[in-house]
Amino acid sequence: MSETRVDAVRSRVVPACACSTRNQGVIPANGEMTRISRRGIHFWLSMSDLLLNSCRMNTLNGKHLLLGVTGGIAAYKSAELIRQLRSQGALVRVVMTAGAQAFITPLTLQALSGNPVHTGLLDDQAEAAMGHITLARWADALLIAPATADFIARLTQGRADDLLSAVALACEAPVAIAPAMNRAMWENPATRLNITALRSRGIHVFGPAPGEQACGETGPGRLLEPDELVTAVAGLFETLALSGRRVLVTAGPTREAIDPVRYLSNHSSGRMGFAVAQAAVEAGAGVVLVSGPVSLETPPRVKRIDVVSAADMQRAVLERVADCDIFIAVAAVADYRPEQTAGHKLKKTAGQLTLTLECNPDILAGVAALPNAPFTVGFAAETEAVADNARAKRASKAIDMIAANQVGAGRGFDAEDNALHVIWAGGERELPLAGKTKLARQLVALIAERFNDSGNKVIRFNAKDSA
Ligand code: C5P
Repeated sequence: MSETRVDAVRSRVVPACACSTRNQGVIPANGEMTRISRRGIHFWLSMSDLLLNSCRMNTLNGKHLLLGVTGGIAAYKSAELIRQLRSQGALVRVVMTAGAQAFITPLTLQALSGNPVHTGLLDDQAEAAMGHITLARWADALLIAPATADFIARLTQGRADDLLSAVALACEAPVAIAPAMNRAMWENPATRLNITALRSRGIHVFGPAPGEQACGETGPGRLLEPDELVTAVAGLFETLALSGRRVLVTAGPTREAIDPVRYLSNHSSGRMGFAVAQAAVEAGAGVVLVSGPVSLETPPRVKRIDVVSAADMQRAVLERVADCDIFIAVAAVADYRPEQTAGHKLKKTAGQLTLTLECNPDILAGVAALPNAPFTVGFAAETEAVADNARAKRASKAIDMIAANQVGAGRGFDAEDNALHVIWAGGERELPLAGKTKLARQLVALIAERFNDSGNKVIRFNAKDSA
């Protein structure tokens, strides 16, 4: 059997369009390589390659992946692709074109994805439940695999005459295509021009791979293998916007003890803060998350510190703030705490119970007032006059940026979706209603933009510090 050096597999496992510069690592001279086999060929991978690939896999955990399947013989591979995406924790929904259904049944993909498969643009029921706009909004990324030459041409034209093309047109999340076709069709100038146009619009193109084709010819046009596509899709969520930065995030509520069994708290679920921490990791930062009591899994590659009260949270933040470039305070810190915490469970007495409360320290304002303060970002949950109150809050806490959101009436706390109005010195931006994961990614991109513009200090870190 043939043996191939790591450079060859790198270029195939991580397609150029999806890879970050971190993939260009140096092969260790000490020979610590691991052999893996695929398609009867042995490849040698360094431990750092294996680690990188496993990190990328974690990236898919909880992501909403919309898979578009078009009508080519390679459509059968979408079954295995869905299986692998789900095994990485992704939530998968499938849209099939009419052509795709001639190659593989919706029932198969429904069983594998665990969700009904979407096929029709003008289906009353589908439109009411999850129509093209809802599907486009649901997606954290849209992958069209396989993408036929015809679908690529229609995508290039911006057509919207079937469900998949309409979803692709409406989709604001990253879109990727994995072409699969005869090599002459791939090499035809019409397809080449279409691909160039799609790339220039920011659409990612995964593959195709060279090799034997179903038509008996040999050349470029094979769909990438499912594991290669999974790696490439994971790469969509990785940016380098905060590469080498350290980010400290607070999240969740705090609990202020009244006695050993009772406390004051609020409805914060911690989801927004956890999504911000995850987005910062995906942007290449080393992230420490100081979290109040929540029932959420720690995002991959985030170092989490659990705290209970505002005083605990302040201590945890102040111990670490000197090492961070950016501090993002998402926690809903209780403003007040009981002046005294009873050492035993308070007994019910007739009449009223009066609690005297004292102010908790303002963690964010305290960090912003430090001599070498990091770039500070706060949140403002408001029930009315959202932007005006947020502007005033940004000024009073002397922070760099504030993200304001409307709360109450099912919005903000404990809701799936959120919308933010982000304000900084000299600028404002609306981030419209979206899932918290998507919104967090947009917010982190904005923070990175403002942080990098502000010419802040850079603290370099080692990847091993961040886990
Ligand atoms: O003043 P307000 O509670 O509305 O401010 C909200 C912002 O300040 C959030 O970013 C929150 O995490 C932060 N905060 C804090 N410490 C407090 C109160 C709020 O860090 N004690």
